Amino acid sequence: MLKIGIIGAGRIGKVHAESISNYVKGAEVKAIADPFLNQETKEWANGMGIKHAYTDYKEILNDAEIDAVLICSSTDTHSPISIEAIQAGKHVFCEKPVDHDVEKIKEVMKVVQSSKCKYQVGFNRRFDHNFRSAKEAVEAGKIGTQHIIKITSRDPEAPPISYVKVSGGMFLDMTIHDFDMVRYLSGSEVEEVYAVGGVLVDPAIGEAGDIDTAIITMKLKNGAMAVIDNCRRASYGYDQRAEVFGSKGSVEIGNDASSTAILSTSDGVVAEKPLHFFLERYMQAYANEIREFVEAIVEDKDVPVNVVDGLEPVIIGLAAKKSIIESRPVKTAEIKSSFGL
Ligand SMILES: NC(=O)c1ccc[n+]([C@@H]2O[C@H](COP(=O)([O-])OP(=O)(O)OC[C@H]3O[C@@H](n4cnc5c(N)ncnc54)[C@H](O)[C@@H]3O)[C@@H](O)[C@H]2O)c1
Repeated sequence: MLKIGIIGAGRIGKVHAESISNYVKGAEVKAIADPFLNQETKEWANGMGIKHAYTDYKEILNDAEIDAVLICSSTDTHSPISIEAIQAGKHVFCEKPVDHDVEKIKEVMKVVQSSKCKYQVGFNRRFDHNFRSAKEAVEAGKIGTQHIIKITSRDPEAPPISYVKVSGGMFLDMTIHDFDMVRYLSGSEVEEVYAVGGVLVDPAIGEAGDIDTAIITMKLKNGAMAVIDNCRRASYGYDQRAEVFGSKGSVEIGNDASSTAILSTSDGVVAEKPLHFFLERYMQAYANEIREFVEAIVEDKDVPVNVVDGLEPVIIGLAAKKSIIESRPVKTAEIKSSFGL
């Protein structure tokens, strides 16, 4: 039985603990750590059968029985804890993003590449049944030569302003999943980025130095073009759709709803709203990503989302940021070369 320690017992840490317990065979959570451990979290851990609840994650790293850690703490802790965990000989699953700072991701890459430990990054949408079907169609050549990738990604509600201030900005916090999806669906790298953005949802987001709505267009190395539209608030719920269009056809994925019932009356035709947010829409994807992480360790296979996959969307995000500031298309090579990559 693979023993796991979870660092960070907030929203996503608890999701992973619950999905391991419910859906992942051959692994169990032995310990969690969070400096702000409260009574409620201790009781939750106890109820989950987790033996240890620490305030210091080093207790997990020092436990020789623990094989792997999931880093689910606040973003600013991901890269330093990743390095410490690998140096302690643990396999690591790190929530997105690895870091906002490319120099720090480079340090993590160096340590990962010189170690035998597995290192997976939490781009959960790759494990969603809809996105995976689209990817399979593209890989099977059913779309032909890719021409256009379109991604719509809108949240049902904006995060609190306290979160916006430390989020690294919408591109590195939210769009990062969509940048990863462009890479995943196309199997290609992004060469050039042009972004426009604005504050249309909440002026406080603008006062905090961020944007809440954007359109990003991209040129890919394989010759295709991609477009992402983002908004921090969609009144009808979490809107996560995509299309890959090519010479032979297109594959399109829509939103999941709690039922497929459509009510038709003389007033009109009404269907269910999309599932409310990521915890509802991607619950199964979160379980699948940890299952594949565990499989990679047990069967000594490559992880499905590696450290380079953690770096590339950050580069694209920085290019998008620069594009808005300088009102021009920005090549990802320009960002990379500024970091010696
Ligand atoms: N892949 C996804 O879909 C997804 C979804 C949500 C969050 N995330 C990522 O997961 C991370 C956590 O997000 P969240 O929504 O669970 O936040 P959260 O605030 O609910 O939880 C973070 C927890 O980390 C704890 N923490 C802070 N420093 C720590 C340390 N040194 N050691 C251990 N614990 C520490 C905090 O006390 C808090 O309980 C973020 O980086 C976020 O980007 C990813």
